[in-house]
Amino acid sequence: MRVKQKIIGVTGAAGFIGSHLCEKLLNNGYKVIAVDNLSKGSKNNIRDSLKNKSFNFFKADISNPKTARKSFANVDGVVHLAASKIPRYGGRLETLLVNTEGTKNILEAIKNKKSKFIFASTPDVYGKNPKIPFSEDSDLTVGSPEVARWAYAASKIFDEHLCFGYWEEYKVPFVILRLFGVYGPRQHRSWWGGPQALFIDKIIAGKEIEIHGDGHQTRTFIYIDDVVEALIKSISSEKANNQIINIGTTHEISIIELGKLISKLLQKPLKIKKVPYRSFTGKKYEDVRRRTPTIKKAKELLNWEPKVSLAEGLKETISWHLKTK
Ligand SMILES: NC(=O)c1ccc[n+]([C@@H]2O[C@H](COP(=O)([O-])OP(=O)(O)OC[C@H]3O[C@@H](n4cnc5c(N)ncnc54)[C@H](O)[C@@H]3O)[C@@H](O)[C@H]2O)c1
Repeated sequence: MRVKQKIIGVTGAAGFIGSHLCEKLLNNGYKVIAVDNLSKGSKNNIRDSLKNKSFNFFKADISNPKTARKSFANVDGVVHLAASKIPRYGGRLETLLVNTEGTKNILEAIKNKKSKFIFASTPDVYGKNPKIPFSEDSDLTVGSPEVARWAYAASKIFDEHLCFGYWEEYKVPFVILRLFGVYGPRQHRSWWGGPQALFIDKIIAGKEIEIHGDGHQTRTFIYIDDVVEALIKSISSEKANNQIINIGTTHEISIIELGKLISKLLQKPLKIKKVPYRSFTGKKYEDVRRRTPTIKKAKELLNWEPKVSLAEGLKETISWHLKTK
């Protein structure tokens, strides 16, 4: 008997995570309905997928309810990645509206069929909570709306509540993955893509890297292949249904140490310029001092753990930067 090909919708499909996910879904035999407005992503990222008969790409905006209805009415699941990120240099309203209206539009489109909803959330929702490491039930202590950056966390918290709300009212199953600092080939080459994205290009060019604040704030970084594996496992895992799951590594590194590691891997000198927060935003800014996840739940529910070390992942990422300079 022929098994019916499963159809997965992907929003933000031409972006960093989306483009890798689509390739893997196609390799695993899924049909993919891909949507992106190409505001940050590019067709170049999905060049290979576009050649595949099981890949259907629509350049469309998820803020428009018709986009979601037309694209996703008959899918088995949607991985929702399209979003605006931290409004570091402005764009707070876009972040709030794209992230909340877009998510609601997708959930509305799939609620009748009760297709599974995989939502890409962020550790930014933990905000300034000083209790490290963060587990999924830790308090979400975001700062005041006087600080624009919290618009991103606020929008993603709202979205997480939407997931629970659509489950309660319509029985739409969901998985919320909070992704801790994803990096790899095709990451956006600006702050949008994370500090490592900028540091690599600057160090290659022999220029100084900008460190915002004192540089002793820490993060954890997770390689794209590990994240794609977690997303794919979430699609089929029943155990993960209606759960929030941290996806990250427990290897904590300061931003200065990250710069040093990249310079060591590139065998190029590190030149640092420290920039106070206020001078680059022109306004009050708040950073997160430490950000580390517990990943017990991911191990238990998804049988997932990270496989790629930071040094290995950065080597792959650096070679992509060098090839696509
Ligand atoms: N990269 C990370 O470290 C990280 C960490 C935590 C959470 N996330 C989340 O993962 C998701 C994907 O992140 P990414 O790093 O791949 O970002 P990305 O910017 O590379 O990809 C997002 C894609 O969404 C598209 N998009 C934006 N607004 C849209 C709209 N209104 N309609 C249709 N398409 C739209 C963009 O063009 C882009 O291709 C986001 O939801 C982000 O919040 C990412």
